[in-house]
Amino acid sequence: MASHAIETHGLTRRFGATTAVDDLSLTVETGEVFGFLGHNGAGKTTTVRLLNGVLAADGGQIRVLGHDPATDGPQVRARTGVLTETPSLDERLTAIDNLTIYADLYGVPTGQVNGRVNAILETFGLAERGREKVGGYSKGMKQRLALARAFLHEPDLLFLDEPTSGLDPVATQEVHDMIRHVSREEGRTVFLCTHNLVEAQRLCKRVAVMEHGQMVAVGTPHDLAHQIGADMRYTLEIAPDQTGAARDAVKAIATVSSVEASDAEDAELTLTVSDREAVPDALAALGAAGVRVYAVIPQQTSLEDIYMALHQRKGGAS
Ligand SMILES: Nc1ncnc2c1ncn2[C@@H]1O[C@H](COP(=O)(O)OP(=O)(O)OP(=O)(O)O)[C@@H](O)[C@H]1O
Ligand SMILES: [Mg+2]
Repeated sequence: MASHAIETHGLTRRFGATTAVDDLSLTVETGEVFGFLGHNGAGKTTTVRLLNGVLAADGGQIRVLGHDPATDGPQVRARTGVLTETPSLDERLTAIDNLTIYADLYGVPTGQVNGRVNAILETFGLAERGREKVGGYSKGMKQRLALARAFLHEPDLLFLDEPTSGLDPVATQEVHDMIRHVSREEGRTVFLCTHNLVEAQRLCKRVAVMEHGQMVAVGTPHDLAHQIGADMRYTLEIAPDQTGAARDAVKAIATVSSVEASDAEDAELTLTVSDREAVPDALAALGAAGVRVYAVIPQQTSLEDIYMALHQRKGGAS
């Protein structure tokens, strides 16, 4: 139990007739970046609020860093940082004042507050604007400040609800680097809610997919591809002008379920296959047809493909 940053059993929360979180049993390991995915209204933010003790559960158990957030709220909050969906910053105050108040609130030792605030503003690229009122900040700057605030008291566990929403590509990359850094170098745990599947694929070892409050899948992207029985895909680089002949040659192979050809500058053939034996069979057939093959590139099933397949399977178009 102690090695798990988060553990829930049968966690349930209703709002009137809506079951926002439905019998959720989940384990997040210490030090991992765990992706929490799901379409709008799937129950992600409600789960974060339950794990933070901001919201009471209707049923089930929660352990966060070994504590029950419903009864040990202060212990949990002292060791967790939260970036909420709509972070509240005091727009009448400067960034430095916003962070200083928060540092005091979260028990950063008084002698360390100034140093810590300046360092985090530097890290998040806000040092030069730290003395300006937050009301004059752009959306991306506010998001960066809110993130800085979540990191300020060096929490062991970070809840980040859509951390890159509203950020430009460069700032997004910086946030990704930061998340990787705190996880890999500092051993902190990150619970990451995101709609950005590329982000999840890049950062997360494991992801959970939520649908109508229920967890419909959990594991590494590789595990999930396997669970949904995703077909394997291979791209073959072939000689230009041979795509027609190549397509005819592989069409007859029973284990090849579909063929896409591209006639662009680099002629390519992408095979969707149900069995990897299709690869040598295809190479033999292509060789016999005089098609020259320069490379065979296995294509990983993307998290986006997996997500869409899970969503369709659940008839989840709510
Ligand atoms: N305070 C509340 N009062 C009533 N219903 C709520 C409340 N909070 C959440 N819900 C409902 O619970 C369900 C889950 O909402 P939640 O905000 O957890 O989803 P989400 O996965 O975070 O969605 P999004 O991707 O849009 O942020 C929704 O049907 C939502 O309307
Ligand atoms: Mg949400």
